[in-house]
Amino acid sequence: MLTRNQIRALVNEHGHDIIEHEHMHIERGCYQHGCITTFAHSIRVACLAVWFADRLRLWDRVDLRSLIRAALLHDYFLYDWHDWDDGDHRLHGFTHGRTALRNALRDFRLNAIERDSIAHHMFPMTPTPPSYIEGYLVTVADKVSATRETISLKRFNRPALAHGAEHAGK
Ligand SMILES: [Fe+2]
Ligand SMILES: [Fe+2]
Repeated sequence: MLTRNQIRALVNEHGHDIIEHEHMHIERGCYQHGCITTFAHSIRVACLAVWFADRLRLWDRVDLRSLIRAALLHDYFLYDWHDWDDGDHRLHGFTHGRTALRNALRDFRLNAIERDSIAHHMFPMTPTPPSYIEGYLVTVADKVSATRETISLKRFNRPALAHGAEHAGK
């Protein structure tokens, strides 16, 4: 079984160009849940998706590199969703998968697994399910991470601010 450090090393190995891309400074400055930035959330989702694949012994069925890259880009919408629709937030949940995919296609070369997993990661809020097992792993890891981050907000889990960087206004 992979350790936490091994999983993080895999995420860095397969996603280093995404993690280091200049547009990631936007994710580092936008908050996703509570005091967790979109960047930190995306790293968490990637690590958790790999953890699920490992613990469920899915390695003969999962493309690790596609899984990691889809997870890192699943919320690559590149805006602060708290501000995006005048605080209404009603449409963001339904539209940001497509926005993330559009931005990701502009900045990276993506295969079919990555494209589909990013576009449909909000299932079942959005009606179309992922077409690949990698997409289901991203979707589940996203929901588990979001729930944990929301709960940690309620507990005032301040260490998470280590990823929060400079966007102190939210
Ligand atoms: Fe999302
Ligand atoms: Fe997410």
